[in-house]
Amino acid sequence: MSALRVTATAPGVVKLFGEHAVVYGKPAIAMAINKGIKVTVEETNDDSLVILAKDLSVKGIAIRVTGGLIEGNVIDDGQLSKLASYALTALRLVSERYGGDLRGIRVIIESQLPIGAGLATSAAVSVAAVAAYARLINVKLSKEDIAKIGHSVELTVQGAASPMDTATSSIGGVMYIKPGIELKRLSTSLKIPLVVGYVERELTTSELVKRVKALYGKYPAVVEKVMDSIGAIVDEALAALNKSDYVALGELMNINQGLLEALGVSNHRLSNIVYMARRAGALGAKLSGGGGGGAVIALAPGVEDKVAVAVKLAGGEVILIDADYEGVHIEDYN
Ligand code: MEV
Repeated sequence: MSALRVTATAPGVVKLFGEHAVVYGKPAIAMAINKGIKVTVEETNDDSLVILAKDLSVKGIAIRVTGGLIEGNVIDDGQLSKLASYALTALRLVSERYGGDLRGIRVIIESQLPIGAGLATSAAVSVAAVAAYARLINVKLSKEDIAKIGHSVELTVQGAASPMDTATSSIGGVMYIKPGIELKRLSTSLKIPLVVGYVERELTTSELVKRVKALYGKYPAVVEKVMDSIGAIVDEALAALNKSDYVALGELMNINQGLLEALGVSNHRLSNIVYMARRAGALGAKLSGGGGGGAVIALAPGVEDKVAVAVKLAGGEVILIDADYEGVHIEDYN
């Protein structure tokens, strides 16, 4: 039986190794975190498709559907209208594939994460919206199906995206991603004691992906070697995870940060946090995600508190996280 109201939650994601190079087919390792995005999709009695965002400390937006056509009527600025376009595209792709009328639908987005801080909020919105709307129209999708549609949502909205964030948000846990070849959840039970910090972003992920592409175009022989080295780091990191070798994981994070610097995606504030975290005892620290501001992760077994203070002193906000092993799930329906 069809539900009238469904809520799905999808976790945010930290990128442990391999961001940017993963766009060029290199492997990456990412971990789902226990804070994420909640999307509620409910039937209403009118003809409109309304997308609202709650608790984001930004105004809501409304998009109206008339006679089956969607007219974008965005009453908002930057980040929120972006989030709404991921939710809208998710509903569109599901309804194109499986049927379902988009009229008379209200979508509510709630976040436990700072939006746009590089913790995969757009992937989590896409994944949660696909899961919630599919359940509303009574279509059964596996987490792998949701990951694939979620990736199509990101590709449609952004133009370029690897499957890393959407796969990790859908499936949960620690994921090894090799685009087009392999998508594997790692069986590691190793606790990865991370301090996560973030600063405001100067550039979006898609702008940074374009920058890296331009650098690659200009110096192909050089950048190719950087990408290959990041790929090699990921393979070493896989071995270090299997051996529960924190020291090696930290060192590999530091080398990965150096190569992200080489690609031009770190900035002064991020690098400052990275150095302060290392000085406070972190075994390794790097930016996580697209860069240009956004998230930093520091591997800090036994010194989490000290490293968190250092991140704050360096101007970052700290978010307390743990791993999530559940991935996207339906929380509630009736
Ligand atoms: C963004 O979270 C990570 C990037 O590698 C882009 C992507 O994988 O689509 C920069």
